[in-house]
Amino acid sequence: MTEKDFIPQPYSAAVEQGEVSWQSPSNIALVKYWGKLENQIPANPSISFTLNNCRTTTSLKFQKKKDLATDFDFELFFEGEKKDSFRPKIQKFLERVEPYLPFLKDYRFVIETSNSFPHSSGIASSASGMSALALCFMSLEKQLDPEMREEYFIRKSSFLARLGSGSACRSIEGELVVWGLHNSIYESSDLYGVPFRDEVHENFRNYRDTILLVDKGEKVVSSTVGHDLMNDHPYAETRFRQAHDHLDELQKIFRSGDLEEFIKIVESEALTLHAMMMTSQPYFLLMKPNTLAIINRVFKFREETGLHLCFTLDAGANVHLLYPDNEKEETLEFIKAELLQYCQGGQYIEDHVGKGAKQVKLA
Ligand code: PMV
Repeated sequence: MTEKDFIPQPYSAAVEQGEVSWQSPSNIALVKYWGKLENQIPANPSISFTLNNCRTTTSLKFQKKKDLATDFDFELFFEGEKKDSFRPKIQKFLERVEPYLPFLKDYRFVIETSNSFPHSSGIASSASGMSALALCFMSLEKQLDPEMREEYFIRKSSFLARLGSGSACRSIEGELVVWGLHNSIYESSDLYGVPFRDEVHENFRNYRDTILLVDKGEKVVSSTVGHDLMNDHPYAETRFRQAHDHLDELQKIFRSGDLEEFIKIVESEALTLHAMMMTSQPYFLLMKPNTLAIINRVFKFREETGLHLCFTLDAGANVHLLYPDNEKEETLEFIKAELLQYCQGGQYIEDHVGKGAKQVKLA
């Protein structure tokens, strides 16, 4: 599919007003997206586990305007309160998606959104937030075009979410989602995320992700600035090639269930992401002393127990601890006893792999 396939034909139905609501999860990348071309076209393919508990719920009320549409008309509430500081981000999103949703200026919207995870936890809410919003707009488009096929609905939701925040396109479906063109992954595309449909060993079923909140502050580097650092980065080409190779290797690992090899790729990806930030110009150091303390404790735990706990990182100091479901008792006991001391206020989130976004039935 190309961008043009997402420009709709004239709609067959008229819709005056209504409300829709979606719940969309966050995701955690195993092979990281870092570096992009215009409009969130990724510089390399990535793959993520869709999460289950870290979610954004968004509802969209819409009312057809009487007057001729001139501009976007929307109000924004976050956790029950009017949130004007989010307006520029949403305005930009609406501008970007308008060619694909030509009805946007015809309605007045009220957007209400809330997160299941603590606000300002340092957990990126853009993936869950942008995917939930994209799905709400697609539900309205489906009312305008009742014949719309399910597959198109899902693809276009992911496509629109990508225009809001790249990684958001991996939050529509579960359990493993690939985004970015890759030679050996069927139907992979730079435009939207697709579920990884190859064989996946049962070792990866219900994989756990315990998120340690090391630093709940604002992001030191915004995603936009971060991705831009890969332009003219001295190691960019090697890094992009490595991401392709890592995906090839992961494909084999998902089939074989080899957890030792899985750990090697996942941890290397996390450290490479941070290495890219440390070696860009300007350079950034996003790990905190507690991030490193946790990583060293994870290495030691693995050495002592032979269990398969590993870490990954986003563009920040928080640590995602990944481990198989059948090792969860011992691993969680260790995390609670030994690692919570490194978290701000002892805060952590227990999550696991999930199946993707859900429409919320309105009462
Ligand atoms: O979706 P963005 O633009 O916020 O970028 C996210 C980048 C990482 O979280 C660091 C990696 C990834 O693939 O999710």
